[in-house]
Amino acid sequence: MAQLIGCIGTSHIPAIGGAIHKGIQQEPYWKPFFDGFPPVREWLGQARPDVVVVFYNDHGLNFFLDKMPTFAVGAASQYNNADEGWGIPTLPPFKGEVDLSWQIINTLVEKEFDVVTCQEMLVDHACTLPLKLLWPEGPCPVTVVPVCINTVQFPLPKASRVYAMGRAVGEAIAAWDSSKTVAVIGSGGLSHQLDGERAGFINKAFDLQFMESLLTNPEWATQYSIHELVEKSGTQGVELLNWLAMRAALTAGAGAGVRKVHSNYHIPISNTATGLLALEKVAGLG
Ligand SMILES: [Fe+2]
Repeated sequence: MAQLIGCIGTSHIPAIGGAIHKGIQQEPYWKPFFDGFPPVREWLGQARPDVVVVFYNDHGLNFFLDKMPTFAVGAASQYNNADEGWGIPTLPPFKGEVDLSWQIINTLVEKEFDVVTCQEMLVDHACTLPLKLLWPEGPCPVTVVPVCINTVQFPLPKASRVYAMGRAVGEAIAAWDSSKTVAVIGSGGLSHQLDGERAGFINKAFDLQFMESLLTNPEWATQYSIHELVEKSGTQGVELLNWLAMRAALTAGAGAGVRKVHSNYHIPISNTATGLLALEKVAGLG
């Protein structure tokens, strides 16, 4: 059976792509953000996952406001990036892992999650930037299954529903008849709000508590309604739902069974609180 080895949560602010393109990662503005990644890359270099499942939210590239699935799963052999209109360099296509896609889709539908299946799917910066941050050199060495969660347009799925969906994805990975190793990525956040009266809103205390909860008490955020999460993290900070699905996929229930590889938190990049958290699944715990 396939082996789920760990998870990585990271922010995906569009400007990160521009900074990578310009090679300004070590300039003072960007350094505290990019300096978080070498320890995670080092771990990935040893763990060497074959496949990543990426929980992310599309920002209007593949799904616009007129058609907004709550949960959508890619089932393509290749995922293309495209011009998103913000000057982010378009990245080369990423290879899909079709067999795992259908394993996840079949499991989710069996467990009564009525997902949209996408045999063609453009992937935006929320899916591509984490891959570029984790594997900056050369072609992406992992195959990909994108799982898109609506964090964009109300009604948003409840945190408890997202957690249950993530757990079901984890069960699908564990039951996948393959010798491959899999990591899961949660892309988004942390607290930020780009519009309205609270534009610029950041909540460091909540972000740090949320990151800590993923290590010790992963269901902690499910106590909040979606409106409470927006209040605490901002209208776009609610992208933390992607991290919650990621963590639920890794191990369900109480915090045992994982160890922290590395974390980083920095304010602000482009009016956003940025977070990075890598957790490794530890056999024999939990
Ligand atoms: Fe975003």
